[in-house]
Amino acid sequence: MGKPQDVHVSFDTVRDKNLMQLKKLNLSIFPVTYQDKFYTDALSSGDFTKLAYYADLCVGCIACRLEKKEGGGGVRLYIMTLGVLAPYRRMGIGSKLLKKTLEQCEQSESPIVEVYLHVQTNNDAAIEFYKKFDFEITEEIKNYYKHIEPPDCFVLSKILAPSKLRVVPVDLKLLAITEELEPCRGEEQGDGKQRAVARSPDDRDPVNRVQEEKERRAFTFNSNIKSVFLHSR
Ligand SMILES: CC(C)(COP(=O)(O)OP(=O)(O)OC[C@H]1O[C@@H](n2cnc3c(N)ncnc32)[C@H](O)[C@@H]1OP(=O)(O)O)[C@@H](O)C(=O)NCCC(=O)NCCS
Repeated sequence: MGKPQDVHVSFDTVRDKNLMQLKKLNLSIFPVTYQDKFYTDALSSGDFTKLAYYADLCVGCIACRLEKKEGGGGVRLYIMTLGVLAPYRRMGIGSKLLKKTLEQCEQSESPIVEVYLHVQTNNDAAIEFYKKFDFEITEEIKNYYKHIEPPDCFVLSKILAPSKLRVVPVDLKLLAITEELEPCRGEEQGDGKQRAVARSPDDRDPVNRVQEEKERRAFTFNSNIKSVFLHSR
């Protein structure tokens, strides 16, 4: 068999029509039987759940779930299973599945900030495998599994670097607005009334005018930040 870099692997997204393939692979690779919820989550993750084909044979799979991080901290990807049939291991197929998935994270519409998974504490092969992709052990959970020995697991996690989020240089308009905000801060510190009266002849309460102006600018500022992120692909 060829070296990993020689092996040609193609991928197919899991949908209803090929869900059975994923079920069969999971059954032969993992010592756990997965319930319907597992497959509903897997299908919901779209392209993140896929099959790997080598020489027209379906030999590997990755099943993922997308989760919102608590506190509005972005989206994270949970790898529920990633496996390759035993005769096809150490050929780079697992690496190709994971690499493809990490690339998809970088290209995702909603930026994915973390990828994580659970692995049995005695699964040295998987731990080595994930470490090669800079995953780190962040936690050990005792008695995580109910029907397998050992029942303990490690949580392996890879934080996706901020540089991998799509941030483009801030445009000049945004900088100008940022600078415009400075006088508002000055007004907060005590000289706001005078400036508001001088700028506008209308007879609204000058303190309210300052507040309204600040809100208007903050809205424009936030809209610009949003558009920077939305148009940064
Ligand atoms: C973990 C698993 C997916 C790796 O798939 P694979 O296709 O064999 O992995 P690769 O060939 O891409 O290996 C990449 C690297 O991972 C490490 N690795 C993989 N298997 C290893 C093993 N048995 N022992 C030590 N290191 C191993 C090596 O560093 C390897 O690089 P190298 O071959 O150049 O030395 C596969 O062993 C598997 O399906 N295991 C059963 C299911 C499982 O435990 N999944 C993980 C939990 S979700």
